Amino acid sequence: MTRNVLVVGGAGFIGSHTVLELMEQDFNPVVYDNLSSGYRDAVLTGNFVEGELEDKDRLVETILKFDISSVIHFAALIEAGESVLEPLRFYRNNVASTVSLLEAMQSAGLNRLVFSSTAAVYGNQSSDQLLHESLAMSPVNPYGRTKAAVEALLQDVADSSALKTVALRYFNAGGADSQARLGERHDPETHLIPLVLQTAAGRREQFSIFGDDYPTTDGTCIRDYVHVTDLAKGHIAALKHLFSLDDDDGFYQPINLGTGKGFSVREVIEAVRKVTGEDFEVGVSDRRPGDPAQLVSDPGRAREILRWQPERSSLYTIIEDAWRYMRRPAPG
Ligand SMILES: NC(=O)c1ccc[n+]([C@@H]2O[C@H](COP(=O)([O-])OP(=O)(O)OC[C@H]3O[C@@H](n4cnc5c(N)ncnc54)[C@H](O)[C@@H]3O)[C@@H](O)[C@H]2O)c1
Repeated sequence: MTRNVLVVGGAGFIGSHTVLELMEQDFNPVVYDNLSSGYRDAVLTGNFVEGELEDKDRLVETILKFDISSVIHFAALIEAGESVLEPLRFYRNNVASTVSLLEAMQSAGLNRLVFSSTAAVYGNQSSDQLLHESLAMSPVNPYGRTKAAVEALLQDVADSSALKTVALRYFNAGGADSQARLGERHDPETHLIPLVLQTAAGRREQFSIFGDDYPTTDGTCIRDYVHVTDLAKGHIAALKHLFSLDDDDGFYQPINLGTGKGFSVREVIEAVRKVTGEDFEVGVSDRRPGDPAQLVSDPGRAREILRWQPERSSLYTIIEDAWRYMRRPAPG
């Protein structure tokens, strides 16, 4: 049976790759997106509905019209720096809108949801251990706090209803579709790999590292990079897991999607130099407030529960795919 899946925020970076993967694995995606940061032309397959997450009536209408079986929820404002300046906008868009979505799901009788959470919910942990889902959430900026608030909301609703939900905590998403049909198009771009690649491509004069005095091997921050196509596959695995739970109980579980291996900013820069064959200027500026020294996942739960293993998440493959996408021929 082909299941119709509502992909809220499916016109964005991770959502659009997940739409391709859903089709690949015999699900039928229906994208619902307000195009605030996504692109209509990134939705390469399935149906598209332009709509606001806050518009509960339109959500219910869409769920019923397309006979939706389950929901994947990517829609959010994602820029941590902006969230410090405009917390109300972030709480309305990321938290209040998720309340609308859950209400719409309840009135349409839907109870399976995969939610995009983030490693940012861990914040600054006291040691350099791998981050396990059992650690208390301790986000350091409003963006991370909106994600932690939604996780608390999901837990409360699952405790009191038949909602079955997985919160996937992604580490640093990167890469692009291996055929360069899709890639990262954030505007403004704040993510490390596309910024360094733009410098390699000569679109930026120099790349500036935020702080090289962290307590790490080379002083720069360490992150766990995961390929966007692996993330997409993680969502399908999570959906299948939710469909395997066929009792009437509620269920909520956070699951990391990461590799368990970290790379410093300087290591990423060196890898970009090798992949692109380009040399470029690198400077150092002050630390950015709220950047933890190291965020690396404990990937055990995803392996155990979802049978998920990253396949394209070597740092070189991530950079090669992102570079191929950046240099794709212009359309037409
Ligand atoms: N990119 C990363 O490295 C990363 C890491 C961890 C978690 N995440 C989470 O993953 C999700 C997707 O991230 P992304 O990088 O693809 O972001 P993105 O900005 O490319 O995609 C977000 C999509 O949601 C849509 N959207 C936002 N608010 C909406 C609303 N109110 N109603 C309808 N549509 C709305 C946007 O138009 C966009 O298409 C986000 O929830 C983000 O917090 C991303």
